[in-house]
Amino acid sequence: MNKQKILITLIAAGLVTLGGYGVQSATAKEKKQAPAAQEAAGQKKAETIDATAKLSDNHPAFEEGTSCNDCHEVKLDAKTTATQAWLYGDYLSWKADEGIMPKDKLWEQVVKVIGDSKAKKTYILATVLNNRPYAITIEYALDPVKKVMYAFSEKGTSKLNQIKANPYVALGWHEEFKNDFTKLLCVSLNGRAELFDGTTREFDEGLSVYPYEYGANMRKIPLDKFKAIMKQAMIMSRITLDEVTVTDTSLKDAGFRTRQRWMRK
Ligand code: HEC
Repeated sequence: MNKQKILITLIAAGLVTLGGYGVQSATAKEKKQAPAAQEAAGQKKAETIDATAKLSDNHPAFEEGTSCNDCHEVKLDAKTTATQAWLYGDYLSWKADEGIMPKDKLWEQVVKVIGDSKAKKTYILATVLNNRPYAITIEYALDPVKKVMYAFSEKGTSKLNQIKANPYVALGWHEEFKNDFTKLLCVSLNGRAELFDGTTREFDEGLSVYPYEYGANMRKIPLDKFKAIMKQAMIMSRITLDEVTVTDTSLKDAGFRTRQRWMRK
């Protein structure tokens, strides 16, 4: 074979490989699309879109509650977003990967901010059901050792139904922002919620962490009686924390970035 022939053979082989790849990824995509969504889209292909893509007037119709990524692959550039830069990139006086708190020390900081055992805080809890978000205020108490949070809610409340259907939750807690960017304190948390009733061991574990005593004192009911009422009337939610992001401008004085992220894994 002369040089030219070899080159042509190589190019042809390359084309075959590329062609094969194209067919493969199209099939993978078709599998990913829900059958109903495909039908709604009239069998035309939904290409990869940018996160900022807008719907045009002649976009195929789709059902309410369906989101773009049910049909499209949405390109997200998670490396260069502002949050990533604040956490790990070149930011203010920090070079990339400098100023990041060691994991254990960061956890201590989380406990300092949102409170130790027998201390609760008022959070906004977000749940998602059928692609719709739902946000509610709720008191949670942190177990600093297991890194889980406990709350007690009346049976039959909406948030419990939401959690039952989809355990993935997010929470936020913040100090009121007083128009001064040098004084910020807020925490956002992600985790998985589970529900337990009063007959379970987990419910008792929750009571040992959650400062339920305030409820008994308020109602002037003996502790034991109050505990029995809680076991009867309430459902406990336990959130296993997976990710906690702290914004705390006071960390700067210790030489750390003001935004830090703890991850369980
Ligand atoms: C039910 C599936 C489905 C959903 C949901 C959907 N798309 Fe599409 N989209 C399609 C299909 C199929 C095409 C190709 C249509 C064509 O070629 O005529 C398309 C085309 C597009 C295009 C190319 C040009 C155009 O508008 O026709 C853009 C941009 C786009 N979609 C953005 C979005 C965004 C943004 C959302 C969410 C708000 C979204 N799509 C939700 C199926 C979907």
